[in-house]
Amino acid sequence: MTIERIATGAVGEEELALESTVRPRRLDEFAGQDRVKENLAILIDAARHREEPVDHVLLYGPPGLGKTTLANIVAAEMGAQIRTTSGPAIERAGDLAAVLTSLGKGDVLFIDEIHRLSHVVEEILYPAMEDFALDVVLGKGPGARTVRLQIEQVTVIGATTRVGSITGPLRDRFGVTYRLDYYGQADLERILRRSADILEISLDQEAAAVVARRSRGTPRIANRLLKRVRDFAQVRGAAGASVSAQLASEALDLLEIDDRGLDALDRQLLRAMAEHHAGGPVGLQTMAATISEPVETLEDVIEPYLMQTGLLARTSRGRQLTAGAWEHLGLTPPQAAGSPQPGLFDQG
Ligand SMILES: Nc1ncnc2c1ncn2[C@@H]1O[C@H](COP(=O)(O)OP(=O)(O)OP(=O)(O)O)[C@@H](O)[C@H]1O
Ligand SMILES: [Mg+2]
Repeated sequence: MTIERIATGAVGEEELALESTVRPRRLDEFAGQDRVKENLAILIDAARHREEPVDHVLLYGPPGLGKTTLANIVAAEMGAQIRTTSGPAIERAGDLAAVLTSLGKGDVLFIDEIHRLSHVVEEILYPAMEDFALDVVLGKGPGARTVRLQIEQVTVIGATTRVGSITGPLRDRFGVTYRLDYYGQADLERILRRSADILEISLDQEAAAVVARRSRGTPRIANRLLKRVRDFAQVRGAAGASVSAQLASEALDLLEIDDRGLDALDRQLLRAMAEHHAGGPVGLQTMAATISEPVETLEDVIEPYLMQTGLLARTSRGRQLTAGAWEHLGLTPPQAAGSPQPGLFDQG
């Protein structure tokens, strides 16, 4: 069986192109995340008035919710240049020093996957963020000395899907930290209609609602599905007609995405937990093995949404299916139907 990986699918080249066409450039084009947006607007306004760079910003949350987009928006709103790099891409301290010295005042250095920075590189970042300085070691051995070089005042924006893996000292150096949450139905519909306009797909209101409902609260997935729906409409629909709710549903059924936005992989996981482990608790490693995905993917991508929708619960001994999950699978839980029974020693 081939499993359609809507949620975990890697962002390929074609998709990068799609993302850059539909990516909002300005804060007022960015739908949802109202609290984050409001805070950012104040931060940007205040910095503009003082004619200073924006404070360092840390953005975290599941993939596809808009971290990269927001980093670019901050730079655009400030009229600044942005340089994008990522934790694993900066191998040596010198690489980071080179990037930092190339930036002008107020420019943005966006570090994606910042939790994957090496320790050596991180140590270079501390004085750069705190004092806009680089401590460079000259020479080797006993004769070596450190000189401090000033750099321009820049803004570091870090993004991560796992804020828990960031070291304390690094986290402390960010002036503000914002968490992005899954999007609600109305915001997803707005995002879809905007993308449809840009891509010149005519999508009626109800069709947007159908796609939004199955998008896992994630704009990236919404856009992904929109494209698949368009393909389907081109093949099956009447030429030139707008995409109807009926057509959108058929397209998504074909992709095996159900009415809660779960894809085949999600259901395979839930089903395996039900059928082979009596609903749990099941350890992360075991769960990852059942779907042949790395533990990180499970933790960062698959599980947060299943927990958010109340299908999976976290216990001290592993993950457990909720009553809602059994119902969604159309199966009967082994004991009396009801909420998962916490073990004697569970702490939640
Ligand atoms: N609030 C939003 N409004 C409109 N479109 C959005 C919004 N947030 C994200 N998108 C769209 O979703 C796509 C993915 O967003 P983005 O790349 O910013 O996610 P991310 O959080 O950086 O993901 P990752 O963790 O995988 O790097 C973008 O192409 C963008 O078009
Ligand atoms: Mg990103």
